[in-house]
Amino acid sequence: MFLTRDEEAVLKGEKGLGVQRAMELLVAIGTVYEAERLIPISSAHLSGVSYKTIGEGGVDFLTNIASDSKVVVKTTLNPAGMDLVRWGEMKISKRFAERQLEIIDCYSRLGVETNCTCTPYLAGNLPRKGDTVAWAESSALSYINSIVGARTNREGGPGALAASILGKTPAYGLHLDENRKPTVVIDAEIDGGLFDHTLLGQVVGKKVANAVPYFRNIRPNPDEAKTLAAAMAASGSVAMFHVEGMKPEANDADLKGLERIGVERRDLIDARETLSTGREPDLIAVGCPHLSEAEIRDLASILKCKSKKTDIDVWFCTSKATRKRCPKEIDVLERFGKVLCDTCMVVAPIEDHYSCSATNSAKACNYLPTLCSQKVVCASAADLMKMVT
Ligand code: F3S
Repeated sequence: MFLTRDEEAVLKGEKGLGVQRAMELLVAIGTVYEAERLIPISSAHLSGVSYKTIGEGGVDFLTNIASDSKVVVKTTLNPAGMDLVRWGEMKISKRFAERQLEIIDCYSRLGVETNCTCTPYLAGNLPRKGDTVAWAESSALSYINSIVGARTNREGGPGALAASILGKTPAYGLHLDENRKPTVVIDAEIDGGLFDHTLLGQVVGKKVANAVPYFRNIRPNPDEAKTLAAAMAASGSVAMFHVEGMKPEANDADLKGLERIGVERRDLIDARETLSTGREPDLIAVGCPHLSEAEIRDLASILKCKSKKTDIDVWFCTSKATRKRCPKEIDVLERFGKVLCDTCMVVAPIEDHYSCSATNSAKACNYLPTLCSQKVVCASAADLMKMVT
């Protein structure tokens, strides 16, 4: 990979140890993927935040990096293992909370914004079309590649952190025009709505792995696109998709010779049945990815004239920024459960207290059994709310 004279100096350690280590990592990644050079980024979004997922090794790594490095672009964080304020209400242990707060402190010393959310694009980190960024949350990066038209690879946590410290990333993969073109056509026959889109994502991710799907016959709104992106990134490793008739990049797509895959209602029903391994949830959790304002308003309108008739715990996961925007609706939701920020049902240690979780997110359904030892009930948000009213 070509390096400028300045970049060479960084690599040789002439500008300090922190940037040298970051450069070594980016050069290694760039060499593996045959990048020609480094290109500047305008923002980064980091994963690797929950103490549950990164453990003591992660705390040591971050403490080390935070002692001699700073990020040089706008950098935001993925969810942590607990609500940073209401962790006591989540029955989080004191030891876990202390280690989690230490991780947040490391990121803060690095200059990272510590509002922890997987929808940073709804919370102040929204790239523009054509921007080059380095993002590490699979649902968010697919959303901004596909719906916003920004450019990022599917970064790992350390790669995104190194990019944020240097303000650069290797130019390969989805940074290049030729890799952003559709590689498979999906003819989807679905009724629409959030839940259908998450199941559609589940089916398509499984079928196409890391392809770039081009959808026909759907017109997702932003929340439907968000859950579609999340599900495809979890059941497969899709990092970019196109929707016919929707900007930013679908209009000039050439579909000649591409494989075509049909998805029917029956496929969605099968996907839901496969994901559902449990029957009686002790936790109902929505907000994977984090709830948008529109989703919170929809949930509040379902619940506003009802009362809670069960002791099942309910979590509504969102960002602080979104929670602030709809205080009246939050009051309604709080009558039924907790509106939690900074965290989610997958990266929190829910296995300490729950064994069966219900959710409307195919992404969460993929991870809850393995990362949280849960049986899973997969149902629409409306059906989940019926379980408690
Ligand atoms: Fe976000 Fe957690 Fe889902 S990070 S996308 S709510 S698994």
